[in-house]
Amino acid sequence: MQDKRKILIVDDEAVVRKAVERALQTRGITPRSASNGKEALGFLAGQRFDLVLLDIRMPDMDGMELLQIIKSKHPSTEVIMITGYPTIETAVDCIKLGATDYLVKPFRLSELEAALEKNARSAKALRSSPSLIERGLKLGQEDGIIIGQSRPMQKIFEKIVRVAPTDSSVLITGESGTGKELVARAIHANSARSSNVFMAVDCSALVEALMESELFGHVKGSFTGAHQTKHGLFELANTGTFFFDEIANLSLNIQAKLLRVIQERECMKVGDQKKIKLDIRIISASNKNLEESVKAGTFREDLYYRLSVVPIHIPPLRKRREDIALLSDYFIERISRKIKRPIPEISEEAMDVLRDYPWPGNVRELEHTIERVLVLEDAKIIRPGHLPASISRTHGDFQIFSEGPITLDELEKRYISFMMKRTNGKKTEAADLLGINRKTLGLKLKRYELSQKTN
Ligand SMILES: Nc1ncnc2c1ncn2[C@@H]1O[C@H](COP(=O)(O)OP(=O)(O)OP(=O)(O)O)[C@@H](O)[C@H]1O
Ligand SMILES: [Mg+2]
Repeated sequence: MQDKRKILIVDDEAVVRKAVERALQTRGITPRSASNGKEALGFLAGQRFDLVLLDIRMPDMDGMELLQIIKSKHPSTEVIMITGYPTIETAVDCIKLGATDYLVKPFRLSELEAALEKNARSAKALRSSPSLIERGLKLGQEDGIIIGQSRPMQKIFEKIVRVAPTDSSVLITGESGTGKELVARAIHANSARSSNVFMAVDCSALVEALMESELFGHVKGSFTGAHQTKHGLFELANTGTFFFDEIANLSLNIQAKLLRVIQERECMKVGDQKKIKLDIRIISASNKNLEESVKAGTFREDLYYRLSVVPIHIPPLRKRREDIALLSDYFIERISRKIKRPIPEISEEAMDVLRDYPWPGNVRELEHTIERVLVLEDAKIIRPGHLPASISRTHGDFQIFSEGPITLDELEKRYISFMMKRTNGKKTEAADLLGINRKTLGLKLKRYELSQKTN
């Protein structure tokens, strides 16, 4: 297929410009080239570009400055930055300023090709075409990404990028299924500890009696049943990140011990005198409001302050509905690949149903709903009728009394229309649900001038 993107190359090195020009020409694109920022702004003022390939270091105006101008004056133009001097900070800054991608010089043509491909795909796939950080934050290589373009999620991404490299304790709160563990993993993955252990411990799953020996370990013979010396989870997580899930469930006894570990940065096995030096970063999560637990006396205030140096609150999905379509597209693609079926499209009507549903189980519920639809239905296009009844039932397409009384004929017409939608226009099925035969349904459709087919 012909690549129709309008592309501008901005680089002060003629060799780079030539090489990139040639690579683009093989894709059928004739790019424009500028050797400095001023010239580039001239081109940008004259015509709309889909994509700018922008060098960071240039003599008069540097690429970062130009990136900001492009993003403020031409927000729909995408920018891929090119640099000979890569650092994490510049990469993060570029992405924050709205660049879509980042190439390091000297790059192979295949890398440029890959970046162009990715840009073409994302431009097509995204409903609006937000930049990488607007769409999601990358975790590890295989872990996928955290998706979100709503303002609260954007703020959370910024916070993650900012706190990840530090050793500050982070407390993540939010309803069940909002992505607390995902955020914890993102912080770990973007930190200097990323190649070390991420130890996730669910405090509600640990039995109180065994908790101490689980966390701290024990020496042989320290209590009945301690046949062997055992390393504790803290020790095993050394140099890594320790994730305390459902922290509100820790008993006051263990809370006191945890506080000591944090203050002294060391721990001891049960029954042992030897101190073990600990270098761990603590992230905790709770779906309860810990401040209330503090007030109620079930959670130590001093520990609460130690754990919540950086608090991150993830709002429920119903308070950030802008993320629903993006998340749905993401899950449809990911789950289809996982279960090896062709990736279906989703109709606007079905997407509306998903957008309107309150999602009490948050992102996890959305993910499971989509998985269920993909496993049970082979449709090429997902329509409202494919969604579980519990979800479409709350959708307002059969509100009959909201505007006052209507005639029986009108009621019948609307109910038939509703059933046709519900069954994706399958007449036999609709007739069945309406308790009439197919022929009668056909007559009624004609009489009410309703479409005989799917909407
Ligand atoms: N923003 C997101 N982007 C992509 N996937 C997400 C996002 N938020 C949540 N998920 C997915 O939803 C599921 C639930 O997320 P997670 O386990 O992190 O939630 P949680 O807040 O820890 O839930 P709980 O309180 O029940 O433990 C996971 O499969 C996760 O991958
Ligand atoms: Mg969790």
